[in-house]
Amino acid sequence: MRQAGRYLPEYRELRKKTGDFLTMCYTPEIAAEVTLQPIRRFNMNAAIIFSDILVIPHAAGMKVWFEQGEGPRLETLKTAEDINNLKTDIEAPLRPVFEALKIVRKELPKETSLIGFCGAPWTVACYMLEGKTRKEYEHTRQFAIQHREDFSKLIDKLVQASISYLSLQIEAGADVIQIFDSWSGVLSEQGFMDWVVEPTRKIVSALKTRYPGVPVIGFPRGAGVKLSIYEKLTGVNAVGIDTQTSISWAAQNMNGTIQGNLDPLLYAHDKKAMLQQATMILEATRNKPFVFNLGHGIVPSTPIENVEALCQLIRDFK
Ligand code: CP3
Repeated sequence: MRQAGRYLPEYRELRKKTGDFLTMCYTPEIAAEVTLQPIRRFNMNAAIIFSDILVIPHAAGMKVWFEQGEGPRLETLKTAEDINNLKTDIEAPLRPVFEALKIVRKELPKETSLIGFCGAPWTVACYMLEGKTRKEYEHTRQFAIQHREDFSKLIDKLVQASISYLSLQIEAGADVIQIFDSWSGVLSEQGFMDWVVEPTRKIVSALKTRYPGVPVIGFPRGAGVKLSIYEKLTGVNAVGIDTQTSISWAAQNMNGTIQGNLDPLLYAHDKKAMLQQATMILEATRNKPFVFNLGHGIVPSTPIENVEALCQLIRDFK
């Protein structure tokens, strides 16, 4: 979860020097360097390529920018014509991401996994229609109801773009894929089936046909009890568990690998309680294939010493 993020002084320095976040993503040497920073410091078992889920709308021709300290901004889609005008050939603009993956795979130790990723179609569509992070994505939910055909077209375009983007990431050296559905929690059960499960199933199925050996992790944040149907119907190999979900419930109810759950705020602000929660998570998942991770993105104020203590605790756990 954003392991290369802003909690590292070496990241902040490079960010200041480069100035613009998207320039960092599109400069292969810089993106590779940022990807490797946490590995050098903590020797984690996996690295996630430095990029963002919003490079897809950007490559499709939309204006995307990052306001310092405020997060992403997009010029929004308004009409059916805007959706029709989105470019589907996203390979050329995203070439720097593939170049970065090649550099990182060469530099990483053989036993360290390299994770490629994209945003799931629902979550990316939320940003494309609303232009920034929101709490409930009411406009997107309403658009999906009132303009169902147009919204389906948008989701289908994102499914196709995600399949080619992820395939090219695998060709460039990604060993594992993660699909981030950060806003799946705002949907009704039927909405979740139509806009989260079905598009994700299509992406996973296409990847499995082409690359049967590459594991896919799905992270439908906020899905709650719908995690079971998500796991069953999408065909993902592993499911990310958010902070709100009971990890012992997940350990008992999920069939495959699970990951996640540590509270990022506890991680940043209460080392002792965080180490206790980490131990509880390790105990609860003792008999499961489990990937240690946070329940959502690391917060920039997380002290390095908390990260070091957590890595040590995980390595010493018996
Ligand atoms: O570890 C990594 O750096 C991996 C790369 C990565 C980033 N974003 C880099 C990034 C990944 C996997 C993401 C995923 C992402 N991006 C998601 C899904 C995960 C989640 O958080 O739910 C979403 C929704 C986005 C969109 C996005 N990008 C947001 C909401 C923000 C602002 C976050 C904030 O708290 O201000 C970004 C910016 C972003 N993406 C940064 C990084 C390192 C921070 C850029 C900076 O200010 O230097």
